[in-house]
Amino acid sequence: MFQLSITRNLVDPVIQRAQKSYDLWLNRDDHIMSGEELIARSFQSDALMICHSEILSAEVVAQFSDRLKIVANYSVGVDHCDLDALKARGIVVTNTPDVLSDATAEIALLLLLGASRRAFEGDQMLRLGTWTHWAPVEMNGIQVTGKKLGIVGMGRVGQVVAQRARGFDMEIHYSNRSRLPAELEKGAIYHESVESLFNTVDMISLNCPATPESENMINAESIGWMRDGVVFVNTARGKLVDEGALIKALQSGKIAAAGLDVFQTEPGGNPAFATLPNVFMLPHLGSSTRETRKAMGDRALDNLDAFFAGEAPRDRLV
Ligand code: DGY
Repeated sequence: MFQLSITRNLVDPVIQRAQKSYDLWLNRDDHIMSGEELIARSFQSDALMICHSEILSAEVVAQFSDRLKIVANYSVGVDHCDLDALKARGIVVTNTPDVLSDATAEIALLLLLGASRRAFEGDQMLRLGTWTHWAPVEMNGIQVTGKKLGIVGMGRVGQVVAQRARGFDMEIHYSNRSRLPAELEKGAIYHESVESLFNTVDMISLNCPATPESENMINAESIGWMRDGVVFVNTARGKLVDEGALIKALQSGKIAAAGLDVFQTEPGGNPAFATLPNVFMLPHLGSSTRETRKAMGDRALDNLDAFFAGEAPRDRLV
């Protein structure tokens, strides 16, 4: 049996399946493993299954044992892995696309609605007992129905966000590395530049991967391209956003409200967000449904099973 190390505690059906096919080591107490711990594990592992919480920097990868043959990510995002360094070591890397698109799009819509309709403030009023009377001008939010939604990154998740938003009669605009074919575009309006997209839309959803090029793409300059009073949602990665610039824009009202599931610093998030009533936020729950967390595990195990059977893993990245 091949030795598999799973670096976080996963849902039971995934662990049970892994136990049947592999000599399994599991990080049962579920702490986030340090680089040193990951290096140590590599000496006893043919395969690692990791989450986005485990950082595989070039420095860590360089010290991995030759025994380690494959890293199966339990995530679609792989910005925590130095893919070049892994490739140079001949270590195969896979991820889990597709299976988390629906769940992540649900959270994007929840954030869009929650931020626009002031869900946090309303919830607080009830919990704190400060809702004293109903009033026509109280807690007026921004209507989502019929607005222009700008999706940055029209990959798998972006396309599902668009589909769900069509249910609110939203007009879909997007920017992407390349224009989608008409059957995937489904009438969405393509913008060659993010500047043109931001000039046009009322609400923005970030759905692009974090790469060195996209890091801090939401900054003082690009916020300046946005229309006044936009609603901004991020379910992709915190590192796409210069949080200082976002906080300033939320304080000034340039951005009317934000829905955030991801942060530059996780866990925790920037404490300044918690002081802003126009931020509706969640602790990186995009893929967190029972169904999706099982499907992610199955996809990661399918990739490992294929690799150890001498076949090409479906989601091989390097
Ligand atoms: C992903 O798969 O990238 C999600 O953010 C969870 O890690």
